[in-house]
Amino acid sequence: MTSSTTGTSDLPAARLAELRAAVAREMPGVRRDLEALVRIPSVSEEAFDQAHVAASAHAVAELLRGAGMQDVEVLDEGGAPAVVGRLPGPDGAPQVLLYAHHDVQPPGEESDWTSAPFEPVEREGRLYGRGAADDKAGVMAHLAAIRAHDGQPPVGLTIFVEGEEESGSPSLGRILAAHRDKLAADVLVLADSTNWKIGVPALTTSLRGLVEAYVEVRTLDHSVHSGMYGGAAIDAVTAMIRLLATLHDDAGNVAVQGLVSGEAAELDLTEEQLRADAGVLDGVQLIGEGSLTSRLWTKPALTVVGFDATSTAKASNTLAAKAKAKISMRVAPGQDANEAYEILAEHLRSHAPWGVKVDVVVRETGQPFAADVDGPAYDAARAAFADAWGVQPVDMGIGGSIPFIADFAALYPDAAILVTGVEDPDTRAHGADESLHLGEFERVCVAEAVLLERLGQLGS
Ligand code: BES
Ligand code: MN
Repeated sequence: MTSSTTGTSDLPAARLAELRAAVAREMPGVRRDLEALVRIPSVSEEAFDQAHVAASAHAVAELLRGAGMQDVEVLDEGGAPAVVGRLPGPDGAPQVLLYAHHDVQPPGEESDWTSAPFEPVEREGRLYGRGAADDKAGVMAHLAAIRAHDGQPPVGLTIFVEGEEESGSPSLGRILAAHRDKLAADVLVLADSTNWKIGVPALTTSLRGLVEAYVEVRTLDHSVHSGMYGGAAIDAVTAMIRLLATLHDDAGNVAVQGLVSGEAAELDLTEEQLRADAGVLDGVQLIGEGSLTSRLWTKPALTVVGFDATSTAKASNTLAAKAKAKISMRVAPGQDANEAYEILAEHLRSHAPWGVKVDVVVRETGQPFAADVDGPAYDAARAAFADAWGVQPVDMGIGGSIPFIADFAALYPDAAILVTGVEDPDTRAHGADESLHLGEFERVCVAEAVLLERLGQLGS
């Protein structure tokens, strides 16, 4: 937990009150625009209709133009479209890049939702809908801050709203290569993370990287009768299960040798709270060893997120010839994601039971990130959060990934990177009944408006 409380310079109470009032004035319009964005089912996963992603890019571009931004463009480098715009600031003011993403995760089973995923509905102070938080509220937090400054913030602004963050940013490298000059900045404000809990803001200072890979196991030339050959020949599903079981030890620690692990500050996360937030069933143990925050943020994690085998309904009584799994690996800060993939692939190949054939193919990698948590931009952010919540922010990690961050840091190594966000532990991003806490959202918008004001006091 960080206790650095000093602002970068004084923000007069009257100016803080003015910004708070300006945000309050803008909230009804921000809410309307957020709801309109949620109604566009902009799922960037390739199996979904990409016309909706194009429509949400255009809707975001219109919102940027409406807020007075200039040179608003939809960038398309063969993936999903991103939107960029700029707002020049006073001479000598720092240049700030605001990041969010307008694409969303697939809704999953609609029947798991209390109300339709793409029809925003308020219940008990929360706005429900896919993308209501992750990350259309991030887009709108940036717009709220710009509007609260009447389109004239005291810094130079660039906004970059990505359209394929949820599918691993496949064309981001090309977008950055083609448009890198447009994204140059002294400070990045990336609104795609979470706060610590309701009433306690946070800066996200570390993120895990991601590797997605497919593993295929083959054991037979063709499937055969299980009574005729079972007992001597092995089916691919059983072999796959035995292979996947080597990924963890008996305590549930990741058992792949060579993956980096780190230690995270403990914060006030209890086992009971984590169980409740994650919905872990009574009697089901948590896995792994070490502090909870380390297990979640600075150690690797391995999950089987997809499995292709014959369904129980369609299964004939045979030995399956092949099976395929999709593996998601979270990579600790401090390890290159491509190196982590090679280590995983080698582990899978070398642990093949009974000589079965194992093929591993990488689908996507995104690099982890650990921020430099000091300096004037961090002081400004901590002061702005304290202004907005009346409570000091904590520094936290997240176990999720945002590939843009490391790519941006590689392009602009001197830029300060501030990771903020609209989520809270009950947001259920990616799940059914995703929602945004509306009271916290207004504080997020106040914090960002105040942050721009405080960054403006820094000079560049
Ligand atoms: N907003 C999330 C990142 C996040 C995760 C923030 C957990 C706070 C808590 C982001 O949109 C996301 O889900 N990213 C993907 C990236 C991947 C597809 C490369 C992820 O982490 O799975
Ligand atoms: Mn997100």
